[in-house]
Amino acid sequence: MSIPGPRSKELMRRRESAVPRGVSHATPIFVERAEGSRIWDVDGNEYLDFAGGIGVQNLGHRPDFVLQAIRQQLDRYLHTSVNVLPYEPYIALAERLAAITPGSWAKKVLFINSGAEAVENAVKIARSYTGRPAIVAFTYGFHGRTLLTMTLTGKAKPYRAGFGPMAPEIYHIPYPYPYRDPIGGQPGYGRIAAERLLELFRTEIPAEQVAGVIVEPVAGEGGFIVPPADFLPRLREITAQHGILLIADEIQSGFGRTGKLFACEHTGVEPDLMTVAKSLAAGLPLSAVVGRAEIMDAPPVGGLGGTYGGNPLALAAALAVVEAFEKNPRWLERAERMGQRVQARFQSFHDRYEIVGEARGLGPMAALELVESRESRVPSALAAEHFATYAYKHGLIVMRAGMDNHVIRTLMPLSTSDGELDKGLQIMDEALTYASRQVQAAMPQS
Ligand SMILES: Cc1ncc(COP(=O)(O)O)c(C=O)c1O
Repeated sequence: MSIPGPRSKELMRRRESAVPRGVSHATPIFVERAEGSRIWDVDGNEYLDFAGGIGVQNLGHRPDFVLQAIRQQLDRYLHTSVNVLPYEPYIALAERLAAITPGSWAKKVLFINSGAEAVENAVKIARSYTGRPAIVAFTYGFHGRTLLTMTLTGKAKPYRAGFGPMAPEIYHIPYPYPYRDPIGGQPGYGRIAAERLLELFRTEIPAEQVAGVIVEPVAGEGGFIVPPADFLPRLREITAQHGILLIADEIQSGFGRTGKLFACEHTGVEPDLMTVAKSLAAGLPLSAVVGRAEIMDAPPVGGLGGTYGGNPLALAAALAVVEAFEKNPRWLERAERMGQRVQARFQSFHDRYEIVGEARGLGPMAALELVESRESRVPSALAAEHFATYAYKHGLIVMRAGMDNHVIRTLMPLSTSDGELDKGLQIMDEALTYASRQVQAAMPQS
């Protein structure tokens, strides 16, 4: 059967007249059913899922233990609003998250619905605690699509362009990008990148007016950029010296994605506030801000929350997810092994294909940066587009990332078996052969 099949095509036609184009879709395929790392579309085609609903399905689609927890909650109550009648799952998950996140201090946890909402709240809490207005974010960062979070985001198109004016008191410094920064190979590059903050204090906003610095430990949407190991520790030092809160956005990098529960753990850095979402609740909308208790308590009663924040079904799912990670070290061991397997294969792609400018990653949060040629390093959105299209037409769902949509990222469930992983990597290998040919054909002939 052709992909997309007739039913997907018909739904796409309906979609075009009913849904604004601003809501993007990485594939033209409509899903019928999903299980583990597999997806079936409405035309009966089967796919391996290396996108995981944008990093939401780290434990796989519909794991039994999550479904069971949701069903139990379904039979008790769906919604009272925690602002009216509180319920135990909210407290229980807050306690669990406080226990498993980095930082040995007392913590408190706020639940909201989306990643963007978590970031919004982290900023409010940081401002409330410090009494300072400014927030520093990074180029290549992605923090959401609300007014404040798009302002924090460091990618102009499509996230900011035309949506201004932006929110005030947000400043950006460059995210360390070893492959693209001319000084990226220099020893101590991570420290140098962090110290760009000091320059910002001198040139644009004095440190005493900065409430927080928000950073993704691995830049997700920006292209799975892994900063050097000395970057976050130096950022931690500088922020601490100036009474500025360090906010780690672990929305994409958390819950085993990098081989540890949270990406910060690779460097030993303990942020003051952390935002989590995505794989926290295995597909139900839930996000959280976890932070030092005294910071979290800064906003007054009624200053935080919302009608749906901490929905009981989502909390039940998240409790099952957290319990799975706590009780079963297999998940993180699997993540680490998977990361090694994927990265070894990606390295071989780098060795064999001229269009793979760089293969990189942290654990199974891995990426291929596609370029016109290794020498020019010109980003190739064309290669990435042909790659992704070849992949779904041959049974593999992948997502792109990067400033030019030229990076292929892996967000496959950690439940993916070695056999499934190798099958997906084989399709990627073929997709690179195909994309290489297309890039070659599009080059001006000399
Ligand atoms: C690091 C990071 N922060 C924030 C967000 C925004 O989350 P949401 O789309 O749930 O609002 C995302 C989403 O991809 C993300 O990757």
